[in-house]
Amino acid sequence: MKKSAKFRINSLEDYHRSYEKSVEDFEGFWADIASHFTWKQKWDSVFKGDFATGKTAWFQGAKLNITENCIDRHLAENADKTAIIWESNDPDESSKKITFRELHSKVCQMGNALKKLGIQKGDRVCIYMPMIPELTIAVLATARIGAIHSVVFAGFSAQSLAGRINDSECKMLITADGLFRGKKTIALKEICDRALKNTPSISTVLVAKRTGQKIDMISGRDLWLEDEIQKVDDHCPPEIMDAEDPLFILYTSGSTGKPKGITHSCGGYMVYATYSFVNVFQYDPQDIYWCTADIGWITGHSYIVYGPLLNGATTLMFEGVPTHPAPNRFWEICEKHRVNQLYTAPTAIRSLMALGDEHVKRHTLSSLKTIGSVGEPINQEAWDWYYTHVGKTRCAVVDTWWQTETGGIMISSLGKHSPYRPTYAGYPLPGIQPALLNQEGEEIQTADEEGYLVIKHPWPSMLRTIYGDHEKCQQVYYSNYKGYYFTGDSAKRDDTGKYRIIGRVDDVINVSGHRFGTAEIENAINLNPMIVESAVVGYPHDIKGQGIYVYAICLKNNDTDMSDSEIKKSIVQTVAKEIGNIAKPDKIQLVIGLPKTRSGKIMRRILRKIACKDTSNLGDVSTLLDGSVVEDIMKGSL
Ligand code: WT7
Repeated sequence: MKKSAKFRINSLEDYHRSYEKSVEDFEGFWADIASHFTWKQKWDSVFKGDFATGKTAWFQGAKLNITENCIDRHLAENADKTAIIWESNDPDESSKKITFRELHSKVCQMGNALKKLGIQKGDRVCIYMPMIPELTIAVLATARIGAIHSVVFAGFSAQSLAGRINDSECKMLITADGLFRGKKTIALKEICDRALKNTPSISTVLVAKRTGQKIDMISGRDLWLEDEIQKVDDHCPPEIMDAEDPLFILYTSGSTGKPKGITHSCGGYMVYATYSFVNVFQYDPQDIYWCTADIGWITGHSYIVYGPLLNGATTLMFEGVPTHPAPNRFWEICEKHRVNQLYTAPTAIRSLMALGDEHVKRHTLSSLKTIGSVGEPINQEAWDWYYTHVGKTRCAVVDTWWQTETGGIMISSLGKHSPYRPTYAGYPLPGIQPALLNQEGEEIQTADEEGYLVIKHPWPSMLRTIYGDHEKCQQVYYSNYKGYYFTGDSAKRDDTGKYRIIGRVDDVINVSGHRFGTAEIENAINLNPMIVESAVVGYPHDIKGQGIYVYAICLKNNDTDMSDSEIKKSIVQTVAKEIGNIAKPDKIQLVIGLPKTRSGKIMRRILRKIACKDTSNLGDVSTLLDGSVVEDIMKGSL
């Protein structure tokens, strides 16, 4: 791919033209873009469906395989181009480079191994792996043979893994012996063994070797990936899929307790991942692109694996953490591989900023052109530091707003072509029509007024359903405001049309760019036998964006003689066991009661204010059953 993609936007005027076209003739707009892909059969209709039912179809009737577009399509001219650069957790272990030709062979081989083990089109395959090349290969191999991947972030616990496997009845689990993360080695296979005690649908476990640690291999169930690959060749024609066949399921938290299996389909997702990648990052054909996310999240799906590879890009995969073995690791990698586009999260920026400027100053970052941010609002201080010390005031900063459900970036600058305003994500991408609604559900027209962020027109990579529960999908996303997709965020828009995302308006908190439902954490805590009841809220946290604040009522002094600190430790352990270390509470306050209304509902608004140390005005407390509870909580607040 010597030339940039045909649909790359190259100026602000170009953006405005594309945007207008996408509104006036959205079908023509997307059909033009889609015409640049490899389809086995063309579509009958560009779009069908509506927001009332939440049932939508893009490029219906078309046939394709996304891996043919990610890999095979690039072989004629770019077989020897590097597709993946892999950088180990340990800087002394040499990096790996995989060309498109090699990737093709590896994906085909793994595809054949999966088929030989009985995986067929439509089957679900769970992938729970470290950030090693085999993870990307497993994702693509699954898609190659028409199976549906469900990647679970390797920081989730055995319980969470089992829940996700069972919800979509995965047939196979692909994992590794262990995982390196900074100084730690995590016994991944052992976590799987615990999860698999309760997962009747799994018949095979494929294990990649990473750490070399001793593990149990259960005969008849567990197989080494390396051995299975030896048994097959690398000829694996892509399975022909309907554009609307599901490509993957990815679980995400909502305001209800149970994570939802967000389901994306092959055709629309492919088109939008390609289009958004090349435009937001302004990727040029010889660039080296690095997204620091984990493939266990949507950012990794769309902007480590699919978006870059669909564009024939070189995508860097990093196994480790920003500060291992030293606080300069990110910058060292940028310099070593001459990274042109860097895509990371505000939490990482803030934690690196806190370690001082000297680490970033040690490295030559002259290759950088576009630096991106994703996952949570970026505060002014972090934005300034990123722009000045990483981008050297020379790079375009792209603050990209989107969600697991949207499949791709929705609101963002397009490299240097959009005038950016710090802390504002900016303009919507062509094809994306956001709006802000007031309490009554009317569209806000005036500038600088906060409202609910909704999307008023379908886009190709929108979620198709919640796996196994379309009714819930309809209810969560399309029933609050008729005719709109509801994002769960609030935002405001300046007089030039740039959007600033403010935060969630539902019971979802965003901790280091990771989404958790407060109900999900409460459900976990309530499983601790010492806990009677709990309430969880978010509060501002310097590094994580939001921290997790727990109010818990326990049986203390009744049937246990544990100290408060032991009880708190036990609560932390329960959350780690039920959800994973990533959801560990930051603050726990043991209380004797929770503020409730007469009808028994917890008044979270009050708890949020106390956690945020904003108690000058608690708002309307007239429905409160017992005011003394609030006073007690305020006295003991952390
Ligand atoms: C929620 C989605 C999709 C990327 C990773 C997170 C928040 C995401 C931004 C941003 C402000 C942001 C929103 C959104 N969010 N990007 N640039 N500025 N907020 O995906 O786990 O599905 O979470 O993350 O609140 O609704 P996710």
